[in-house]
Formats: sequence, C-alpha cells, structure tokens
Amino acid sequence: MKDLNIQIAIKIYDYEELSAADRELMDAARQATFRSYAPYSHFSVGAAARLANNTIVTGTNQENAAYPSGLCAERTTLFYANSQYPDQAVETLAIAARNERGEFLEEPIPPCGACRQVMLETEKRFKRPMRILLFGEKGIYELKNVSALLPLSFDASSML
Ligand code: THU
Repeated sequence: MKDLNIQIAIKIYDYEELSAADRELMDAARQATFRSYAPYSHFSVGAAARLANNTIVTGTNQENAAYPSGLCAERTTLFYANSQYPDQAVETLAIAARNERGEFLEEPIPPCGACRQVMLETEKRFKRPMRILLFGEKGIYELKNVSALLPLSFDASSML
C-alpha cells in the first residue's frame, strides 16, 4: 500500500491586494452577476475571462424551466470566449456569485465539477495555464492553474 497526497496551492487576497488588472476583471465578474438569469435558484453567478489579447469577456448563469437545459456562468463565459476568439488563450477567469438575498458570498464561490472539466479543456487547448480567481467577501482565492481545481483529472490523454 502506498499513499498519494496531492497538494494544491491557493493564495488568498484581499480585494485591495489584487493587481489593477485583476481588480478590473473581478469587478467585471461581480457586475455580471446583475445580468444573471436565475429565476429558479435565485443564485446569481458572473464570470469574466481575460484573454491573451487583453479582451475581457463576461457571462452569467442562464436557467431554464427545464432545469438541466440551463448553463453555469463559467461555461457560458468560456464557450462564448472560445467561440468569439478561438485563437486566444484564456489567461485568467474570475468568478463571483450572489445568494438569494442578493449578497455576494462570504466564502469563495466553488465552481461545479462540470465547469472545472470545461476549464481544464480550455487550459489544455491553449497549452497555457489559466489562472482562476474566486470571489469571497472574506478573501479572494487565486489558483495558478485549473489542475489545482481538478486534481486526478480526465482529459484526452487519459484515453491513449
Ligand atoms: N452555478 C454557476 O453558474 N456556477 C457555479 O459555479 C455554480 C452554480 C449556477 C447554476 C444554477 O443556475 C445556479 O448557479 C444554482 O446552481
């Protein structure tokens, strides 16, 4: 028997400690939450991607009366970014969310598993690390790549 311990590194920032570029991106993600369409969960998520060409693309969760037809903010954002700019790596993805009381979450918003899988594919596709910023009122988590969010991940190489 052997143990395998996987460690992930997270940096925790106060908003004021972020670089100006990251504050701009996080502001865009926070603003995007106000454009969410979440009539069922009342949980409003916003994401903002900074591309290699410095363009910022935002997206929100989009719900549907047939619940599984909706999509999370992260995937809305990445699919839009990759559709509009298929040759531009995503350098940083910032995510923020407000609860049903309209308050930004105290703890950093944890992306769902399906979104982590899509983030991983975006990172692999462009062969560039994609930084992730997760907004919480108590602190902002920075992960330097998607592998940190999704250890033991499945990707195309797993099928070889
Ligand atoms: N949601 C996101 O948009 N991103 C996440 O990381 C977690 C969940 C959305 C999906 C659904 O519209 C609502 O939040 C409640 O799950």
